[in-house]
Amino acid sequence: MAWRKWISLIGFSLLLAGCTANPATTTFNTNSSIAAEKAQLFNILFWMGVVVFLLVVVLLTIAVIRGRRKPGDTTEPFQNHGNVRLEILWTVIPILLVIFIFFLTVRTMNAVAAPPRENGDLTVRAIGHRWFWEFQYPDLGITTANELHIPEDTNVHIELVSVDVIHSFWVPNLSGKIDVVPGQQNSMWIRADNAGTFMGHCAEFCGIQHANMHFNVIADDASTFQAWVEGQQAGLADSTLTDLEAQGSKIVTAGVCAGCHAIDGTNMLGKTGPNLTHLYSRSIFAGGFELNDENMKQWLRDSGKLKPGNLMAGIRLPDDQIEAVMAYLKTLR
Ligand code: CUA
Repeated sequence: MAWRKWISLIGFSLLLAGCTANPATTTFNTNSSIAAEKAQLFNILFWMGVVVFLLVVVLLTIAVIRGRRKPGDTTEPFQNHGNVRLEILWTVIPILLVIFIFFLTVRTMNAVAAPPRENGDLTVRAIGHRWFWEFQYPDLGITTANELHIPEDTNVHIELVSVDVIHSFWVPNLSGKIDVVPGQQNSMWIRADNAGTFMGHCAEFCGIQHANMHFNVIADDASTFQAWVEGQQAGLADSTLTDLEAQGSKIVTAGVCAGCHAIDGTNMLGKTGPNLTHLYSRSIFAGGFELNDENMKQWLRDSGKLKPGNLMAGIRLPDDQIEAVMAYLKTLR
């Protein structure tokens, strides 16, 4: 029967959604007063909707049952078309509900509005690229990608810019989403009440790899954040490279990578791709792939296989260069 097929299909989809979605990435599990206010508004509206729906269904059911023609009944059922009291009642109730929703919404908008900047706030520029996020900390002189470190319990003002198409910046546990539009600077603020790692998404379809445009927001306690800042501000450790690492360095800095990537202290100043200076201090790369040997090897061998359509998909390193390049990249901490 067709309906059985549908039920199993829906059940399977729910199961799949439950298995694949990161359970921590949700607007309900909030770690921020901003997200909590929005979740509260949603909950009130949702339960109001449930009550109205049930009320309508119950009244409708009563009307249908009571208004049925009884056996042997030949007269027309009672007609109440044009009942002034009823007409007023079911016009006034929805109007009151909508006014109530309006006030709730305005209250929430006020509660989540960006507060004025204060000393101790952090400013970050989030730059949307196809398909990764670049993060600049103008006051700290840091540029990174794919991972946004913020201190917990601190207001973070985010300037949103895009270098290509429209993206949308969204960290469900921390705040709502704002579009990132080329040629226009939008802004938002986030705040993490507690330390933790929260997944961010691009929430506006931006091309073939839109789904691989994740980022991590890592909220650190004050001392961990300070240590991270110092690590990022420091130049690369001046250790002497092994032969293999030096060979890799030559391939990276003198080769095709230099056209798009930057590594501080080298001749590489490219701005198209992620800044690689402290690449191996990050846990993900290329819009959400775990930074491990297997993924990095695959990326260098044929990034188009891992992430079809990405801008360096045409660049494939021969196997004999991959080991050296990986060795060098791992020195970028
Ligand atoms: Cu960027 Cu979707």
